[in-house]
Parts: sequence; C-alpha cells; structure tokens
Amino acid sequence: MTDDTAAPRHETGSDETGATWHEDQPIDERGSNRSQRPGSAAFLEFVTSGWAPRPPSQVTRGAAADFTAARRSALSAMFRGRRLVVPAGTFKVRSNDTDYRFRPHSAFAHLTGLGVEQEPDAVLVLHPVADGAGDDGSSHHAVLYMRPLAGRDTSEFFSDSRYGEFWVGARPTLEDLETLTGIATAHLDDLRDAVAKDVGEGGVQVLVVPDVDPGVEAVIEEIRRQEAERESRTDRDEHLVEALSELRLVKDAYEVEQMRLAVATTIEGFEKVVRALPAAQAHARGERVVEGTFVGHARQEGNAVGYETIAASGEHATTLHWIDNDGQVRAGELLLLDAGVEVDSLYTADITRTLPVDGTFTDVQRRVYQAVLDAADAAFAAAVPGARFRDVHAAAMEVIAARLDEWGLLPVTAAESLLPDNQHHRRWMVHGTSHHLGIDVHDCAQARAELYLDGVLEPGMVFTIEPGLYFKSDDLRVPEEYRGIGVRIEDDVLITQDGNENLSAALPREPDAVEAWMAGLLGR
Ligand code: GLY
Ligand code: MN
Ligand code: MN
Repeated sequence: MTDDTAAPRHETGSDETGATWHEDQPIDERGSNRSQRPGSAAFLEFVTSGWAPRPPSQVTRGAAADFTAARRSALSAMFRGRRLVVPAGTFKVRSNDTDYRFRPHSAFAHLTGLGVEQEPDAVLVLHPVADGAGDDGSSHHAVLYMRPLAGRDTSEFFSDSRYGEFWVGARPTLEDLETLTGIATAHLDDLRDAVAKDVGEGGVQVLVVPDVDPGVEAVIEEIRRQEAERESRTDRDEHLVEALSELRLVKDAYEVEQMRLAVATTIEGFEKVVRALPAAQAHARGERVVEGTFVGHARQEGNAVGYETIAASGEHATTLHWIDNDGQVRAGELLLLDAGVEVDSLYTADITRTLPVDGTFTDVQRRVYQAVLDAADAAFAAAVPGARFRDVHAAAMEVIAARLDEWGLLPVTAAESLLPDNQHHRRWMVHGTSHHLGIDVHDCAQARAELYLDGVLEPGMVFTIEPGLYFKSDDLRVPEEYRGIGVRIEDDVLITQDGNENLSAALPREPDAVEAWMAGLLGR
C-alpha cells in the first residue's frame, strides 16, 4: 500500500545516445507512479462526509503521570531560567517509502510517560517561569506540542499515509494527550513561536536534545541565531543530554514495577523457548526458531524485544553479539539465549541463560558454567548500597581469574592477572559485567563516569550482572575440551535499602535447577 497521490502525465524523450529520459517528472515524485487516486470534487465531498460522530473519549490519566511530574520537577531545578526542548523524534526510513515502527526517544518517554508508538513528531518543552510559579511549584511550565488527530473533513484524514486516520488509525486529540500525561498540550504548529519567545539579547537560552529530530533541531538553530550568548550551544545541549541520562540512574516506584513486568514477561518467553527446543533441533536454522519464538512472545505480550535477540548455539555463543541466528541447534551443545521483552511503557529486561540443548550439561560444560555462576554470585554479594559500581565487576573478575588459574590457562598467577597492567583473564571475557538497565537496554549511557563507573550504588538502581566465559573453537591457549563453549549468565538486579534483589531470580540459574526446570517444561 502507498500514499495514493495522483501522478501527472509527462513526456518521454531520448537523447542522441538513444537513452530514454522523462521530462518534467522529478525523481522524488516518482514513488506515486503507481497511484490512481481520484482528485475529483465529487470524490472529495463523498469521502469526507457520512461518518458517525466520534464516541466520547475513553482516555484516563496514565499510571506514570504523577511520577513523570516529579521527574520534570527534578530537571527544572537543574536548569532554572532555561528553555528545554525534548523531541519524541520522527519516523526512521527502513527502505524507500517504508518506515520502521515508531519508538519515541527514551528521554521523551521518561519525561512524558508515553510509550508504544506515542507520539511521532511531538516535542516536550519546559518553558522557564519565575521560581516556584511553574508546574507543581517548580521553575518551569511543561507543554507537549503535538500533531493532533485531523478532522474527517481534511485530506489528511484519507490521504496521508503517515498520519491519516485511514492509514494508521485515529491518533490522539490534544485533550486526550493532556488527560493521559497530565501535561498541557498545544498544536505542533505553535512550537516555533513558543520556543522563540523572549529569546534574544539577555533573553532566554534554549537547549535541545540533539540528534533526535532534525526538523526540530533546524528550527531551534534558526531561533538561537538571535541569542547574544556565546556559550557553545553544543556544550549546553550536551549538559542537557547528560542530565537526562543521570535522571534515570535511580528508578522510581513506577519504573521498578515496569521492570518487574518486563522481567516476568521475559521469563515466560524463556519458558516458551525451552518448549520449542525440539522444533529448533529439527530445523536447519534452529537458532531462528529460538529467536522467532521469543520475538513472537515479545510482540504478543509486550511492545517488542528491547534489543536484538542473541540465539547462539554451540560455537556461536562465543560471538558476543551473535544476532544472525541462522545456525543449527544440536543436542550436546549449549544454547546461549540473551533476550529481553520491552513492555508497552518501553522498559526492558536483559536476561541471559545458557542451556544444554538436550537438557543435561556435560561435565566440562558444567565446570565452565559453575565458574561463571560463582563469578555472578560474587558480583551479587558486592552489589550493595554504598559500594561502587566498579566493585561489582571487580568481584566477578576475581572469581574468573581464579578459575582460569586453577585450570592452568593463565600465563601468570590470578593475582598478577588482576593487576591493571596485565588482565590476561579478560581474553575470555572481553565485555563488562554490568550496565544500567531501564528504558534503554544500556540505560543512562551519557551519565558522567563519576556517577556511573565510579558512582556509589543507591537503592532504586537497576543494572545487569552478566559475567561470561567464551572459548573459541580455534583458541590454541585452551585445552581442546573447552573449545567451542560459550557461557553467559545475566540477571537484572535492583539495589535495595539493605542489599539487592535479583529481579530475574525466578528463572533458574543453578545447573541442577536449570536441568530440572527444562525437564519439567519438556515433559520428561
Ligand atoms: N544483550 C546486550 C547486553 O547484554 O548488554
Ligand atoms: Mn546486558
Ligand atoms: Mn544481554
């Protein structure tokens, strides 16, 4: 299906070489060559009339609204007197005239509570007002500029394939979005003048989240030319990006609830994958059976997967981001499944289990698995309030280095390997042990190192613990029995007042428990 704009007729000619060419039909109009939509007055009158009145709106205040108000207030306190522009973003082209499904930018989702496909092209602006005179006693008044549902008397209604009701369904009205978010709304057409207000000599400074919506950014750049202020706009915008990332380091109660939902839904997906293992083994591209099972579950029960699923069997498990998923799944091998459901609010889980395809670990698989599990348990023990984020990784690495030393794989002692100038053990685990988790799978990525890697753990932080060991089949530094084995165990942890909670603890991780769980699901 395509936007059906009638194409004008044009002349065809040829040049002296015999090549044919077409006069007067610009290349960018040619996508409509296949369309034959009528443009007659009779059609226009007929298609825009005869529709029943819309039913009363069913929209109610969203569960996130009180929480997002507090988040906006916290941001307001950091940027008093400045105008903050946070775009949702626009569509991304997949190919030609086909877009990817829309997903709002994570900072926009965090500040508005909007999730699945809400709301392309919208822009949240925090307008500075006198201290205490803003929303909830803050120093800003928030307005959500959006493109509201068009009337049925407009051509957008039936002819606009990106926004029209005939094409994508009825989008929200200004009133609906205001009710849902608790944020004042205005038409997108009002954005430019609202952002430009009081900008100029000694006036309001405007900050925008860059690289989200090129159209909005161009408008802001044009407005900012009026500013006398010479402070680098890039620095200012980066300050906003950093603040928005750091605002998400500690999750509020709504976010923790959404993370619990994402984790529970992901665990159901892992169960479905285990039930699909016989089918996967019977298929030439069994990894696709695994991926398809999980992705189908994610679409049925949530919004999508929070990142591309890694369904890596055998040697493929040693490729950290194996997402081709086109290999066989064979009895006797391990299947590494790294997958997460993103729920409708856009929060995602990020869980890995490494499972024996036929339900039973071999001795050497179990030995490697247990080493990784011991490293994960050491990391859990270190993940307590007051510790530093980097301590969690250090705890896991002590165990990894010790096991590799025991197996005779290190050319130095474990203690020597752990020295910053050595790190031999990292040959077999080149990735980090943890990352923050939330609306983005790698959440808070623009936070300063002093708050992230060197940051002190606080209740409400959610991150992964995901040590692994990966022995490639052509690794001449390990005995043959280890070659082709890749193991990662990844759980999602919430820091609590007195320690932590493994949010994904319901998914078995001890080897005996994994085998028993698989046997139950496979009816053995
Ligand atoms: N699945 C990506 C990661 O674990 O970070
Ligand atoms: Mn992860
Ligand atoms: Mn992962």
